[in-house]
Amino acid sequence: MVKVNLGGCSSFVKDADYKAYVNKALEAFDTLQAENGAGNDFLGWKTLPVDVSEDIISSCEQVRDSWKAKGVDLVIVIGIGGSYLGARCAIEALSHCFVRKEGNPQVVFAGNNLSEEYLAELMDLAKLRNTAIIVISKSGTTTEPAVAFRIFKEYVEQTYGKAEAAERIVAITDEHKGALKTLSTQEGYKTFIVPDNVGGRFSVLTPVGLLPICVAGFDIRAMLKGAADERESLLVKGEDNSAVQYAAMRNLLHTEAGKAVEILVTYSPKLVYLAEWWKQLYGESEGKDGKGIFPASVNNTADLHSMGQFIQEGSRVMFETLINVENANRSVVIGSDEQNLDKLNYLAGQHVDHCNAMAQLGVKVAHIDGGVPQMEVSIERIDEYNLGSIFYFFEFACGISAYVLGVNPFNQPGVEAYKKNMFALLRKPGFEAETEAILKRI
Ligand code: PA5
Repeated sequence: MVKVNLGGCSSFVKDADYKAYVNKALEAFDTLQAENGAGNDFLGWKTLPVDVSEDIISSCEQVRDSWKAKGVDLVIVIGIGGSYLGARCAIEALSHCFVRKEGNPQVVFAGNNLSEEYLAELMDLAKLRNTAIIVISKSGTTTEPAVAFRIFKEYVEQTYGKAEAAERIVAITDEHKGALKTLSTQEGYKTFIVPDNVGGRFSVLTPVGLLPICVAGFDIRAMLKGAADERESLLVKGEDNSAVQYAAMRNLLHTEAGKAVEILVTYSPKLVYLAEWWKQLYGESEGKDGKGIFPASVNNTADLHSMGQFIQEGSRVMFETLINVENANRSVVIGSDEQNLDKLNYLAGQHVDHCNAMAQLGVKVAHIDGGVPQMEVSIERIDEYNLGSIFYFFEFACGISAYVLGVNPFNQPGVEAYKKNMFALLRKPGFEAETEAILKRI
């Protein structure tokens, strides 16, 4: 289960204020549970850990097995925002840092940028490998994945033939509408559905996250179990509820202590994308109506040597949320050296993870001394079960937190603004008037 430790905030807030914010969070908890708050038609994520059917899970496993049987060793997952960050987070966290999981394809991502160089280099890789594609877009109309899909669809059709290409492409999209839905029906692709009542950034436990994670060789059943167990514990209302505690404290630090930025702090390179997923979840859910805490991240200890100076002594605008991983999955012990020229014998016999933990503790104390409150969110280890748990924890806490803040957590109206301008500048039919208007301004 996810544990929250607020000890590193105690010198920055008053007990009475914390209690007041816990009460606000408990009210928000009720709103979320009664499903009568803003955006309440997008609450399907709440029951996903127990709702995902055996049919969906075994269909994911069937795709994995059928591609393995074809010798597929590269799967390109095409999607952007909520349609890729959850899968990428899990796959990066669970994968060996350097070696692909034996017997499973490498999973790479496209459609999350418009870089020509990136796509060209991915094409170089595809040409060396036995390739399949998962294309994900709930709306089915998002430009970035649509462009990438057009390019790689053409490649697999030319390489494997149209009929075989249809066996190597799986689409995940809306049940009824959108260009991707139409195209998939016409081309006969296997299709998974993104439920209507689940928004992109809350969709990691739908096929959007489950299929890529499964195809990469990871245990989605364990992930769903972790999420289900976390849900069970978060359903218990009270001031000990960890999501209530996290939501209360971050709103208190923001509103009463004037903190505008929350930095998610990780201590493993495998967790860089946990922070990216979290940033989207909180950024898109809370950053609206002129409100919100800006979600940022650092990956330590690397970033102690880049951002550490600012966090220690720069503008006092931030608080930190540390992701504490209690146990390492692997063991590396520092040896003893007779000559001790590097003067490291004082560490002989220690696990590297012990040094990491001491860095973590030292940073915590230094940052608190420097005026940066620190919350701690702990998981037992990095595995499927605990990732399912932390996904659900942050989603549930996000719903509560956004309601405390007073915004609708489940819409993202601001994302549309750039699209109109981009379409106008790309001369998309129907945007002629905007094109003229925008060209006059630049
Ligand atoms: O959280 C969200 O809703 C967004 O980030 C979407 O996931 C993102 O914009 C991609 O949208 P779509 O899946 O419709 O292509």
